[in-house]
Amino acid sequence: MSEPARAAVEAEAARLSSKGLSDLGYADAELERAARLIVRIKELKAQKNAVIPVHVYQRPEVIHGIADFVGDSYKLSKLCSETKAAAIVFCGVSFMAETAKILSPDKTVLLPAPEAGCSLSESITAADIRRVKARHPGAPVATYINTTAEAKAESDVIVTSANAGRILRKLYRDHRKVVFLPDKLMGQNLAMQLGKTPGKDIILWKGTCIVHDNFDSASVGLYRRMYPGVMILAHSECSPGLVSVVDFVGGTGDMMRFVESTDAPFYMLVTECGLGELARTRFPGKRFLPMCRLCPYMKAVTLERVLAVLEKPSAADAVEVDPGVQDRARKAIERMFEMAEEGGK
Ligand code: 13P
Ligand code: SF4
Repeated sequence: MSEPARAAVEAEAARLSSKGLSDLGYADAELERAARLIVRIKELKAQKNAVIPVHVYQRPEVIHGIADFVGDSYKLSKLCSETKAAAIVFCGVSFMAETAKILSPDKTVLLPAPEAGCSLSESITAADIRRVKARHPGAPVATYINTTAEAKAESDVIVTSANAGRILRKLYRDHRKVVFLPDKLMGQNLAMQLGKTPGKDIILWKGTCIVHDNFDSASVGLYRRMYPGVMILAHSECSPGLVSVVDFVGGTGDMMRFVESTDAPFYMLVTECGLGELARTRFPGKRFLPMCRLCPYMKAVTLERVLAVLEKPSAADAVEVDPGVQDRARKAIERMFEMAEEGGK
């Protein structure tokens, strides 16, 4: 592919700067380097009729440079199920790209960093779930979306951070006991929220997120003394100890909506660092305090790798799911769409 025109690169670099990347600390040379890649990616994307969904934890130049849509796991899965594009280039991690493939089996789904896993999805196998089901017959299995296609295929319903409470509450209408897998901390938070006892009426697994498992509540009091009025928000994958001392708990979409709809002197987003960077660009008038960690899986996607999969995808970049697994996993995901969107609490 030929070098992009100088004027196009300059216009793109100026656009990135106006989106807030200069305020995040990007130097002009970095913006220009990103802009050169973005111009080429956009040309190829149009040629190949591809769409680029981007998770909120991705790098700012990926979010602001090439995304067709940006969101949490729920929003991205929903939009991927509706897209008319021929190909999906997923800027996120493997379980997200697999979910897109399950929902759009006829499309080409490419993951620019095929090794981008997730500690939660790696914590449990389909065989593990079959063993749990055998020990708790009749209990519905609600599985977090951060799991493999094979794990989803063993599940009754998939949930995300945006709807886990709502879906579990509905399951308890007809069942005394529910299995929630694989995030132990999110499961403990749900148990607290719903008044359930882990091991008795909510059966949990031992998975944790390597990013959210590592925050603790010790510094929360100090932050509150140093920054009076600070609103502290935590992702629902954080520990119950932390969750019990913050002002708001939810998924990334909920956290962004909370920031948008409130007016605090300071905000602290206890989650992956990408969300704080996105919040700073979306709400330039608000002030954010740092308390974040990087997810190495999410950060494996770069503009260079997106360009490479569009130019010449390797076999490893194309996401494939066994057709039998795909059908069963799709039913569990579609059950989530129904339960999350139908009326009632
Ligand atoms: P969200 O669905 O809240 O964006 O969470 C995805 C994730 O991987 C959190 O660590
Ligand atoms: Fe998985 Fe945690 Fe990374 Fe999300 S932040 S992709 S849950 S390891």
